[in-house]
Amino acid sequence: MLCNYYDIALDAGDEAFSVDASNVTFGPGCLREAGDVARSLRINRIAVFTDDVLAKTEHVSVVLDSLRAAGVDIALYDSVRVEPTDVSFKEAASFAADANVDGFISVGGGSVIDTAKAANLYSTHPAEFLTYVNAPIGGGIAVPGPLRPHIACPTTSGTGSECTGIAVFDLLEMKAKTGIASKLLRPMRALIDPTCTATLPANVVASSAFDVLSHALESYTARPYTQRPAPAAPSLRPSSQGANPWSDMGCAESLRLIGLFLERGVTDPNDVEARHQLMWAATLAGIAFGNAGCHVPHGMSYSVAGLVHDFCPAGYPQDEPIVPHGMSVIVNSPSVFRLTSPGNPDRHLDGARWLGADVADIGPDEAGPVLAQRIVELMQLTGMPNGLQGVGYSAADIPGLVEGSLPQRRLLDNAPVDIDREILTTLYEGALSYW
Ligand SMILES: [Fe+2]
Repeated sequence: MLCNYYDIALDAGDEAFSVDASNVTFGPGCLREAGDVARSLRINRIAVFTDDVLAKTEHVSVVLDSLRAAGVDIALYDSVRVEPTDVSFKEAASFAADANVDGFISVGGGSVIDTAKAANLYSTHPAEFLTYVNAPIGGGIAVPGPLRPHIACPTTSGTGSECTGIAVFDLLEMKAKTGIASKLLRPMRALIDPTCTATLPANVVASSAFDVLSHALESYTARPYTQRPAPAAPSLRPSSQGANPWSDMGCAESLRLIGLFLERGVTDPNDVEARHQLMWAATLAGIAFGNAGCHVPHGMSYSVAGLVHDFCPAGYPQDEPIVPHGMSVIVNSPSVFRLTSPGNPDRHLDGARWLGADVADIGPDEAGPVLAQRIVELMQLTGMPNGLQGVGYSAADIPGLVEGSLPQRRLLDNAPVDIDREILTTLYEGALSYW
């Protein structure tokens, strides 16, 4: 039994949850369907978003060939920045505004898909940049209407961006990550071809998979939708609506698959089954967190990525320091789940069991530590950094990390326990190192 929401006092809480199902095609070779999908969406001229490395790969060639064969005009934008910024979002939006297209297709990881979302938004509904950015950093103004069709083609098994209405970027002047969140940003279609993961470096597969792991655990342990205040109008119900029975299903299966296939998929690039199952786990977790929302590990990750000192992990571009998204999340997760467990210990125990921990004799008081320890074991097995120190931070950085994460209320308020400055400080202290 995965869901039991009926014993929770409703008070002024929401009594309904919404299911925004993603329109997904999953399977080896499905990138070849891009042209047919574009035609079915009545796209005559399409903006193809990718980055300069992916632009030289077979994945992009397959998509371009399919679009040309279907008679779709192409405007290629291959300048997407890995870990996009407000500046790179604006450049992409400017391209889209000039390209005179009636649809978008993104081929890449979360950075590419998020950039296409932003370019679609600002070229369809032009506004001063901070208008739509999450409050309190931005204006938090609702997107005024539908966007043009966007077909998302993820090439990593991680972000789930193809299934969500969130676009994340670095706001350079604040040295902090933030985002734009609206159901209207969700891509209209996703083509998820697991063969794209065959050539990914081990470190990229691992970082992406830990992002998936945390998406699923955060969505499953999030504050239930019944404990979120009811919206003023049903149409204002947020995407981050809290744990709900629909998202629970995806979280459970995603965590089970990660428990089975994470180590295999990272350590053996020829293990086709493992890499394909990790891609499916990413899809399930993306659908889940697109309807439930993440919480504290992701809220903390924004400043871990934004304040990077000199960390340059293998498998990623070496031209500037970067804490890849999945690493910036997972270095926080064990510390967070130790603390949030009293909010719903049974769910923390479920997570530990699905990830492969032996929980036969574990009581509710031990659920958090057992789950945290299982995550740490998986991090060690797959070469992840040892907490914040492993990505270049020390205790002296904690005040800055706390300041950077405090504005992420959309995420922090979705936690099963209350999160304030003092608790965030404790969480970062607990995340400094794990072994
Ligand atoms: Fe994520």
